[in-house]
Amino acid sequence: MTSAPLTVDAPFLDTYARFPLELVRGAGRRVQDSSGRWYLDAIGGIAVLALGHDHPEVKAAIHAQVDTLLHTSNLYRLPVQRAFANKLLEMLGGAAVFLCNTGAEANEGAVKLIRKHHWRQAGCPGDGNSPRTEIIVLDHAFHGRTMMALAMTPKPAYHQGFGPLPDCVKVVPAEQVAAAVSERTAAVFLEPVQGEGGCRPVPGLQAIREACDKHGALLVFDEIQCGLGRTGELIHHPRPDIITLAKAIGGGLPLGAILVVNPALTQALQPGDHGTTFGGNPVACAAGLATLQIIERDDLPARCAALGARLRAGLEAAGAEVSGLGLIQAARFGLPIGPVVARMRENGVLVVGAGADAIRFLPAFNSTEDEIDEMVAVFAKSLAEVKAGQG
Ligand SMILES: Cc1ncc(COP(=O)(O)O)c(C=O)c1O
Repeated sequence: MTSAPLTVDAPFLDTYARFPLELVRGAGRRVQDSSGRWYLDAIGGIAVLALGHDHPEVKAAIHAQVDTLLHTSNLYRLPVQRAFANKLLEMLGGAAVFLCNTGAEANEGAVKLIRKHHWRQAGCPGDGNSPRTEIIVLDHAFHGRTMMALAMTPKPAYHQGFGPLPDCVKVVPAEQVAAAVSERTAAVFLEPVQGEGGCRPVPGLQAIREACDKHGALLVFDEIQCGLGRTGELIHHPRPDIITLAKAIGGGLPLGAILVVNPALTQALQPGDHGTTFGGNPVACAAGLATLQIIERDDLPARCAALGARLRAGLEAAGAEVSGLGLIQAARFGLPIGPVVARMRENGVLVVGAGADAIRFLPAFNSTEDEIDEMVAVFAKSLAEVKAGQG
């Protein structure tokens, strides 16, 4: 006698409402399901696959590293890790890097670094507590699913049942952030273009920077989803004190980074203060290094800007209201998104929601014009079909 599965998604815990699609292969910007059907991937592993599913140079770098050295931990020096970190600093500017595995881990580590910085600034109080703990985040922010990152992600449904969360987070509408910064503020965290929250470029960055400077607060750009040139710009201005990165920087493998831009922060963490077993794994760093080199060599931020303009124009011509920059764009069309996402999948293009009311497009940086046009055409066709079905 077989017993009923304990979970709907057995053997997994039921944490994902997965799409009814089993994927078995990726090539270029397309993925194949287990029935043999190919789909154009407009999501790329949620902004991970900047160069598509099987870039030959990234694959060659991975193979070479697998044949050389798989893993050592951070107890030792690693040439490929150093080369990756130096390339990241060369391209984005900055003073030092901590490597980890995921976006949430980068944000958690950044909060620790920020607390320790303010503790040192205050003369290292003996109770071990940082005198400044308030973290300001924006409406619609998404910073991850671990406890601190979750506290910094103000979506009630994500918090339900997980409390108490760290209570040091203040949520503020984007336009009110500069006015909300005070002597209590440890840092402002923001995504220059919000991803999960609806592909919203954050206004008033200069005023936020000035408010942070005035009150001695730090400014963090979470570029985990929008970074590495996806917005059309490799470097967002004004400069923050810290940039957190993940997703695309690993070329398809798990890799995250806390990039310290402000040199005054490089001494905040000392040996023993923070760590991770896998962070900066050699294979992930090899994939990431190849990815960074290609993004720079092929001037892909400029390509993201050009393709983004094409995508936006196409989506607007199809009747959508569009927000975002470069290749992080959301389309709103005044209907529930679920049926359109499903119809697009049936019509051969994979997309996902951004918030409750928008469909998100996160194509690979090296997409072709034809692929962008195909995404737009399938969006227009699917929207029309859903509208016709409703009428
Ligand atoms: C802006 C942003 N920050 C943080 C995260 C969390 O990253 P991860 O899922 O790698 O922990 C995400 C993931 O979607 C993100 O988009």
